[in-house]
Formats: sequence, C-alpha cells, structure tokens
Amino acid sequence: MTKPNVIEMHDITKKFGEFVANDHINLDVRPGEIHALLGENGAGKSTLMNMLAGLLQPTSGTIKVNGQAVTIDSPSKATKLGIGMVHQHFMLVEAFTVAENIILGSEVTKAGGVLDMKKAVKEITELSQRYGLAVDPSAKIADISVGAQQRVEILKTLYRGADILIFDEPTAVLTPSEITELLNIMKTLVKEGKSIILITHKLDEIRAVSDRVTVIRRGKSIDTVTIEGSTNADLAEMMV
Ligand SMILES: Nc1ncnc2c1ncn2[C@@H]1O[C@H](COP(=O)(O)OP(=O)(O)O)[C@@H](O)[C@H]1O
Ligand SMILES: [Mg+2]
Repeated sequence: MTKPNVIEMHDITKKFGEFVANDHINLDVRPGEIHALLGENGAGKSTLMNMLAGLLQPTSGTIKVNGQAVTIDSPSKATKLGIGMVHQHFMLVEAFTVAENIILGSEVTKAGGVLDMKKAVKEITELSQRYGLAVDPSAKIADISVGAQQRVEILKTLYRGADILIFDEPTAVLTPSEITELLNIMKTLVKEGKSIILITHKLDEIRAVSDRVTVIRRGKSIDTVTIEGSTNADLAEMMV
C-alpha cells in the first residue's frame, strides 16, 4: 500500500480583512520528500505555512495530515500532528542555554515534578548526533552563531517528535558554508524518514536538495513540478 501524502492543503484561502493573502492554494507533500515552496516576497508562503504551524487558521479550505482531515488551531496541535516549523526569525531565549531552549515548554520531569535536565541533555545529544546537528547543550544562546541557533531550532522540533519540518527562508541568515551544512542536514533528515517543506526564492538551493517545487505567485498556487523536469528559467517565469 502506498503511504498517503504527509500534507495535503486543498483550496486554502486566507484573508486578512479584505486582503487575500492565499487564494485557493493547493499543496501536497509526499512522505520523505523535500518539497520547495517558491515565490517572490509577499507571495503568501509564510502565511500558508503558518496555517500548518497552527499560528493562523484558514478562512476556507481543508488540510489533511497523513491522510486525515485536521483542524490545526494551535501550535501545540501542530506539534501533536508531528509538524515543526523553523521560523525566519528564531524564537529562542537569549539568556537560556541550548538545552533549556530545546526543552522549554515540553519539560521532562522526574517523579515529584523535578525537571530531569540530565535526561533531556542525553536525548538532545542523541538527536544531535543522529542528524548531524552540532550544538553544545550548555552554551548560552547569546554566545553561539546564528547557524548554531538555527540548529537549536531544528533540534527543538525534533525533540518534540516532528516528522514534517518546515523551513521558512532558512538560508537568508546563513554564511555560504553554513548554507552547505544546512542543505546536508536536510538530506540527512529525509534519509532518516522526515519530510521537509523548504521555503525559498533561491533557485540554486531548490535545485541542490528538492524533489518537487510548488510555485506561488500573488497568493495563488501556479503549479507543482519536479526539479528534474524544469529549468531555472521555467521556475523563474512561473514565479514572476
Ligand atoms: N497578519 C497579517 N495581516 C495583514 N496582512 C498580512 C499579514 N500577514 C501577511 N500579510 C500580507 O500577506 C501577504 C503575504 O505575506 P507572506 O505570507 O508573509 O509572504 P511571503 O512569505 O511569501 O513573503 C503580504 O502582502 C503581507 O503583507
Ligand atoms: Mg515569508
């Protein structure tokens, strides 16, 4: 039996007042793929993904996760469904350590309600080795590089059990070598069974890692195509 799509967004419309940010958008993501979401600034990409992350609710349309129709009415619901999002602007507490940030909001407690930091650090270390996400659990967020902060955000989703990871313009804040590293991390994630949605407007990055790409223009989904079957010129034309 073939597995259902991990995500199916059907006929999604999102209005902010009279403004239509997403206009009957369709998107499906297959298990184990890196699916790029391509579009110019303001096309409506983050709005669409924030509905998967439980930060926004659709005005109309339906969402299925692993074949089941769902209502994602809060970030914790998204977490329960196995969806994790690495936002464009990180949501970390600068004064806290890496480990504290990762477990924040999902604290492991010992009998008696005491936080079991040792257990959490062990789990974080295992995840970081498995996915090649180098971090120092005891370092303060304020003291580590932007690339390392992003790895913390990724670990945070994995720690919560995410199977579907959304990256919103993840390379915008990175150096060229950090970009190469991130793209490798994404390949490892899908090798380990995760599915990824990668928001970007950089065609070279899409080509380096993605399987398929959905192009969004002014709130409308234009088409979904395979990377192999389309040139950068094709994609650029669909985008503008
Ligand atoms: N909370 C909001 N209220 C009003 N307009 C919004 C809101 N969020 C996004 N928009 C508008 O919706 C459009 C799409 O935004 P966004 O999804 O952030 O685009 P992208 O991520 O593709 O750059 C933009 O014109 C933006 O100004
Ligand atoms: Mg955006």
